Amino acid sequence: MKKLCFYIQKGGVGKTSISGNVADAIARLGHKTVIVDCDPQGNASSWLCLEKLEKDIAHVLSGTAQAADVIREITPNLFLLPAIVIGGDLKKWSETELIQNPKAFEFLNEDLAKLGFELAVYDCSPSFSQLERAVLAEMDEVINPLTPEFFSIDGIETFTYELGKIEKAHRRTITNNKIVVNMMNLSFARHREFHKELSKLNYRIFTIPQDSKVAECQIAHQPVCHFARSARAVPEFEAIAKAIVG
Ligand SMILES: Nc1ncnc2c1ncn2[C@@H]1O[C@H](COP(=O)(O)OP(=O)(O)OP(=O)(O)O)[C@@H](O)[C@H]1O
Ligand SMILES: [Mg+2]
Repeated sequence: MKKLCFYIQKGGVGKTSISGNVADAIARLGHKTVIVDCDPQGNASSWLCLEKLEKDIAHVLSGTAQAADVIREITPNLFLLPAIVIGGDLKKWSETELIQNPKAFEFLNEDLAKLGFELAVYDCSPSFSQLERAVLAEMDEVINPLTPEFFSIDGIETFTYELGKIEKAHRRTITNNKIVVNMMNLSFARHREFHKELSKLNYRIFTIPQDSKVAECQIAHQPVCHFARSARAVPEFEAIAKAIVG
């Protein structure tokens, strides 16, 4: 099972939107995929799961529930390990129990692989606390989502430095060679300029346009492709999915 995270230490750049829609595109390619909601704010869960939840990822990580009992099916091949939005214990767990159970995410990934998932897409908050570090340390690949702003390039450099420290501490290599520029509007000269600057770095670059359907599908509790098949962003999410699963 491949473990993947769209992550950067910046809020509101589209981490959750990209995670959900790329995971959906991968599922539509025929790969059994699970979105793991690792953000204590549970945005992916509010978007994709309407059910009132009794148990969530915090129960699985603390060993008080089985992943199979907590995971919900979203569409055929697409599943969610949710986080309870109000009153969930993920943040508390990460601040108290994680330190005594540093292999919690390794064990979770083993459980998910046993359930037949081919891909796990982790959605994290923009914080860089022990929780996000523990998730990142278990990833095979991290893809950086950015918005086309001048300071985003500094954010990439900071992330690369921090990821290097995690790789060294855990003696592993984590692929980090793709960037997704989100909310791109090519009619803005500064967005075109940003893309040109980014092209000088050694990353494969994907772009997602500003597309109101990406925001509206969240109100409708659906991935964008199910909400509006012809939305401009759909082929871009599909291109990222293909690059991930080959
Ligand atoms: N390509 C897009 N076009 C239009 N709106 C978008 C696009 N991508 C994301 N959005 C909207 O931008 C907002 C932020 O997106 P999202 O929640 O995915 O970001 P995030 O990085 O996960 O945020 P956080 O750091 O709070 O977790 C949401 O309202 C979302 O609907
Ligand atoms: Mg988010």
